[in-house]
Amino acid sequence: MATEKAAAQGFGIDIGGSGIKGALVDLDTGELLSDRFRIDTPKQSTPENVADVVAQVVERGGYQGEVGITFPSVVQNGIARTAANIDKSWIGTDIRGVMSERLGMPVEVLNDADAAGIAELRYGSGKDVAGTVLMLTFGTGIGSALFIDGILVPNTELGHIEVDGKDGEKRASGAVKDDKKLSYEEWAGRVSHYLQVLEKGLWPDLIIVGGGISKKAEKWVPLLENRTPIKVAKLLNNAGIAGAALAARDGQGR
Ligand code: BGC
Repeated sequence: MATEKAAAQGFGIDIGGSGIKGALVDLDTGELLSDRFRIDTPKQSTPENVADVVAQVVERGGYQGEVGITFPSVVQNGIARTAANIDKSWIGTDIRGVMSERLGMPVEVLNDADAAGIAELRYGSGKDVAGTVLMLTFGTGIGSALFIDGILVPNTELGHIEVDGKDGEKRASGAVKDDKKLSYEEWAGRVSHYLQVLEKGLWPDLIIVGGGISKKAEKWVPLLENRTPIKVAKLLNNAGIAGAALAARDGQGR
C-alpha cells in the first residue's frame, strides 16, 4: 500500500517583541531554504498591525500552503492568554483565526519558545536526548520549553518565575543586558542566578540556551556557573522559524 509522504518543506514565522521573521524550511533538516525575511514588529503591536506584517513576510517568501506561526505568549486552542511583550489587546484574541483570515491559508500557532524547543529536539542540540530538557530563549523576554523524554509540556512560562522579588526575565533577558548596558560578565552572573532558581525546582538533565544572544554564546556561556550541562541552540535564532514550520506539518499547534 502506498503511504503518503509527509511534506518536506514548510513555512515558519516567528513573531517576537522586536522582529517578525519568516522563511521556507527544509523539514528533514531544519535548515532554511530561503532568505530569512525580517520586518520590525510594529510599535503598536495590535492584532491588525501584526497580521499585516505577517502577511508581508509570507508574500515576500512567495509561499502558499499551511503556515506555522509562533507567538510570544501563552497559546491555548489558538487563543493568546497573556501578552508580556506584545500589545495587551492580544489577550483573548484568536490568533489562529486572525492570521488564517488575513493570509487566506491554514495556520497553526504555538508559543515561540515551545517552537524553538521542538526544533532543537528534532534537529539540534537536544536531538535524541532523553530525560528532562529545558530550552530557554533569551531575547526581549525569556521563553521556556520543557520536555520530558522528548514530550513537550506546553506553555511553561519560566521567564516569569520570581527571582529576588522580580520576574526572571526582568533580571536576565537579552533586552535587560542592552537596556542596562551590562557587560557579558555582569549579565552572565544574572543568568547563572536565574538558572540556579530554575535548577532548584526542576533538576533538568540538560539546558539549551537560544535566542538572539546565542549568536555570541562564546562570550557568556563559558561564564555560567550552574550544575546542569548547558548547550547552545544549534539553530541559533532560527529555531523558532523551523519549529513553527514543523509544528504546522505535524499538527502540533496549540
Ligand atoms: C512570554 C512568553 C514568551 C517569552 C519569549 C515572555 O515574556 O510570557 O510567552 O515565550 O516572553 O518571547
